[in-house]
Amino acid sequence: MSELSRIGVAIDSDLLAKFDTLISERGYTNRSEAFRDLIRDELIEKQWERPDAEVVGTVTLVYDHHVRLLSEKLTDMQHDHFHHVLSTLHVHLDHDNCLEVLVVRGQAVMVRKLADALISTKGVKHGRLTITGSGNSL
Ligand code: NI
Repeated sequence: MSELSRIGVAIDSDLLAKFDTLISERGYTNRSEAFRDLIRDELIEKQWERPDAEVVGTVTLVYDHHVRLLSEKLTDMQHDHFHHVLSTLHVHLDHDNCLEVLVVRGQAVMVRKLADALISTKGVKHGRLTITGSGNSL
């Protein structure tokens, strides 16, 4: 870990009050950690803009497994990208619905392409790609 730098930030009182409320609701006990997390979030977003960046993330999918061939289609896509899918968690939410969470890793452009393909598959009710970093650059 590099040494700590202290900075002063001038901020509108109303904005700061809103920020304090927000971070308190999220469980932060001090502003510094909240600021650091905001900065890390922006850095990760920036990192993902580079198509060749190595990234880690999760893809969350909710779908109805009764939709004809949908489970097979989603599994086929994952096999086509087996080197990008590190692990999959499947939960049978109820009689009809399944929740699947994939841990993905690879070049940003490939990971996003896979996530877009899965999420846009007909029958997938909701999907989201969550991006994060490997932790090394943060
Ligand atoms: Ni299921």
